[in-house]
Amino acid sequence: MVLSTNPAAGIASLQLCFYGAGSLAEALARGILNKELTAPSQVSMINRSNRERLAELSERYGVHTILNGADLTNEQFLQRADVIFLAMKPKDAAAAIESIRPLVSDNQLIISLIAGLSISSIERLLDRKLPIVRTMPNTSSTIGLGATGISYSDAVSPEQRAIAEAIFQSVGINAIVDESLQDSITGVSGSGPAYVYYFMEAMLTAAEKLGLDSASAKDLVVQTVLGAAEMVRLTGETPQDLRRKVTSPNGTTQAAIEKLTEGGFSDIVVQAMLRSSERAAEIGADFERSTSK
Ligand SMILES: NC(=O)c1ccc[n+]([C@@H]2O[C@H](COP(=O)([O-])OP(=O)(O)OC[C@H]3O[C@@H](n4cnc5c(N)ncnc54)[C@H](OP(=O)(O)O)[C@@H]3O)[C@@H](O)[C@H]2O)c1
Repeated sequence: MVLSTNPAAGIASLQLCFYGAGSLAEALARGILNKELTAPSQVSMINRSNRERLAELSERYGVHTILNGADLTNEQFLQRADVIFLAMKPKDAAAAIESIRPLVSDNQLIISLIAGLSISSIERLLDRKLPIVRTMPNTSSTIGLGATGISYSDAVSPEQRAIAEAIFQSVGINAIVDESLQDSITGVSGSGPAYVYYFMEAMLTAAEKLGLDSASAKDLVVQTVLGAAEMVRLTGETPQDLRRKVTSPNGTTQAAIEKLTEGGFSDIVVQAMLRSSERAAEIGADFERSTSK
């Protein structure tokens, strides 16, 4: 595979194959195509059995599937790919990866989207050391506002890194981390959207208790969370500084923050995030145990 140092040009010349055609694969394919990193004819998507899903994807994006892919089989899509995205659920990963062992070759780049699956497990399942990119995206990738942790195996070249980073930039921002930090990424941004949803659920409950109708409550809560995140992003000030600025002594915000502090808000968020990261490590270890002979 010849990879250009210009990531966009490099990607356009590559055959990309999504092995697993679920929601995350679609988010990524859409990002790549919307950003015009490549043409739909360079992208193939394969799954286990759901033909309706393949029909939907090829109609929506013009990508190749076994239904319209110039008579290529799933095996042929995988064999001709320069980049293979592993995009099935963790429970299906071992069988799916083992089944492509005879099909993959040393010049292919493997990009895993599978939560908790280590680079060494992928190497073991493939029985060789291909260039492997392990990622931990999050659900906001679907709307181009994702945050993805990316780690590389030793075999990944600088050109391949540029390709991987351009791909994930098409659906949000990237953090390049040592693989040992992937469980931390899970605790921060992987599970992160759900913490914010949970906080929003509580705000919605309170807004309704305060007499607002559910539509107004939703609009106000969504805009408040959006506005607060944008304030942090655009002003460059820390959340702590921004909070202090809106908290007048003896005012309404101070009364609310005192209640949150009394309830151990900050501590519980920290504990929750540490637990998420710990759980990610447990899931990874379980995977390792259940798939090693
Ligand atoms: N969704 C997220 O926000 C998110 C965030 C971070 C990480 N991830 C990771 O992304 C991966 C995919 O998640 P998802 O939510 O996109 O899953 P999903 O919607 O359930 O899709 C899974 C896909 O994998 C296919 N598949 C399963 N076994 C297969 C096999 N043996 N051969 C070929 N295809 C196979 C399924 O095909 P059939 O439908 O035909 O069975 C389906 O197309 C997971 O590992 C998850 O940990 C997801």
